[in-house]
Amino acid sequence: MKPAFYVTTPIYYVNDVPHIGHAYTTLAADVLARYKRLKGFDVFFLTGTDEHGQKVEKAATAAGETPLELADRVMKRFQSLWEKLEISNTDFIRTTQERHKKGVSVLFERVMEKGDIYLGEYEDWYCTPCETFWTETQLIDYKCPDCNRPTEKLKEESYFFRMSKYQDQLLAHIEANPDFIQPKSRRNEIISFVKEGLRDLSVSRTTFQWGIPVPGNDKHVVYVWFDALTNYITALGYPEEGGDFGKYWPCDVHLIGKDILRFHTVYWPTFLMAAGLPIPKKVFAHGWWTVEGQKMSKSLQNVVEPNMLVDKYGVDAVRYFLLREVPFGLDGDFSHQALIHRINSDLANDLGNLLNRSTAMLGKYFGGILQAPGEETELDKAYREKTVAMIDQVDNFIEELAFSRALQAIWEVISAGNKYIDETAPWALAKDPEQRERLSTVMYYMLESQRVVYTLLSAFMPKTAQKGLCCLGWPEEASAEGLAWGGLKPGTTIAKAEALFPRIEEKAE
Ligand code: MSP
Repeated sequence: MKPAFYVTTPIYYVNDVPHIGHAYTTLAADVLARYKRLKGFDVFFLTGTDEHGQKVEKAATAAGETPLELADRVMKRFQSLWEKLEISNTDFIRTTQERHKKGVSVLFERVMEKGDIYLGEYEDWYCTPCETFWTETQLIDYKCPDCNRPTEKLKEESYFFRMSKYQDQLLAHIEANPDFIQPKSRRNEIISFVKEGLRDLSVSRTTFQWGIPVPGNDKHVVYVWFDALTNYITALGYPEEGGDFGKYWPCDVHLIGKDILRFHTVYWPTFLMAAGLPIPKKVFAHGWWTVEGQKMSKSLQNVVEPNMLVDKYGVDAVRYFLLREVPFGLDGDFSHQALIHRINSDLANDLGNLLNRSTAMLGKYFGGILQAPGEETELDKAYREKTVAMIDQVDNFIEELAFSRALQAIWEVISAGNKYIDETAPWALAKDPEQRERLSTVMYYMLESQRVVYTLLSAFMPKTAQKGLCCLGWPEEASAEGLAWGGLKPGTTIAKAEALFPRIEEKAE
């Protein structure tokens, strides 16, 4: 039986349309899912939309729609973007689906039956965009400490979750599991937050209607974060604890942005502890994208629309750029110039050119028929060993979610390939009939190394990898077995490859 692997993205709010920030998390999850499938895992990859809450209700009113009409419309934009970006999710959950609502009610009820949710009264400062209550001391100039927008004082009857009760258990869990919260800097941030003391959390609202009713008291709707976080288990069939839930829970990794770390590493695990359910194995918070040096915002009209990027540059260039440009975990800046630069230098020059050059040479020297390699020289050995070592390096980097470093490791082998050609000078060997065997070996090594490269690239750039493998006379799907050196069979016909990535003229946008 294949080992199970469960990866999730946050579920996206439907009051906003998808931008590169959303695409980023989803792409990272997709690379991980594809890579794990390649390595033989049975992967469940979940994404979806967060459709309840005051924010969505307000956006719907502003648009003259019901919240569900708004959600129906916007969730389609997410779904079609994911198709365009070749996202290979297993499921797409919407918090308005019955399967989800049922699971949330059951979870809420179970925690309530245990006595960890109780009815009380709430008075505090509320930030609507963040759907978060703050104490007066946490506010900065009466503005939300997270987003700097105005807050309003609210008093309402509310159900509370006894989060304070789980403070020690949570801290012990974080301390005993150093990999639970990543990167490390974020882990320290959460440890300090928990050590400052956890207050009980308001988990219901009475000031609006758009949500899941609290079981037994429909004056209240369930707090949108209690509702949203539960998607990670309702998609697996919770409250049924067999089936997919039994197979995939606890989750291997929740991929999220740094702004929603506290919800995932304090609220979510304590809800689960109260319900007696296992805690996710890892939560990884990536950084934020700015655009040409500025925060992305509707008012600045600088929101980068991924559909437009894909239409202009192609899906794999966008996939490559977002994961290569910035180390996962750090903030980064998007610019068209940087994207064009990566396309021209990494994709057209390094990757595309190597395939183009090497297949052209095989055509010229051997009529496109791959020859059996002869004796291995030191130079060949070094190149083969570098190719083989890359497989483990990439594996380790992906395990650490260091996508950019994984790509760097792949590109080192691509550069080594271009260097290998320069050093072995096949054009000179071709002039000497006595060097036919040597030339055969050089051609074999050049093409075989690239076959391994494209197999690994299938996680990052599925279409390009498929094209590359197909050019190399490897019609099969990329697979772990395909990572073994020596896969290409002598006698295979390999046609000259077209340019995978045409150069783009660099001009200021
Ligand atoms: N609905 C909640 C998540 C609930 S998960 C149980 C939410 N949705 S969101 O649509 O506002 O944000 C989703 C993700 O997009 C977050 O992980 C957030 O960090 C990410 N990004 C939003 N803007 C971003 C950038 N500018 N850059 C990178 N990621 C950003 O929060």
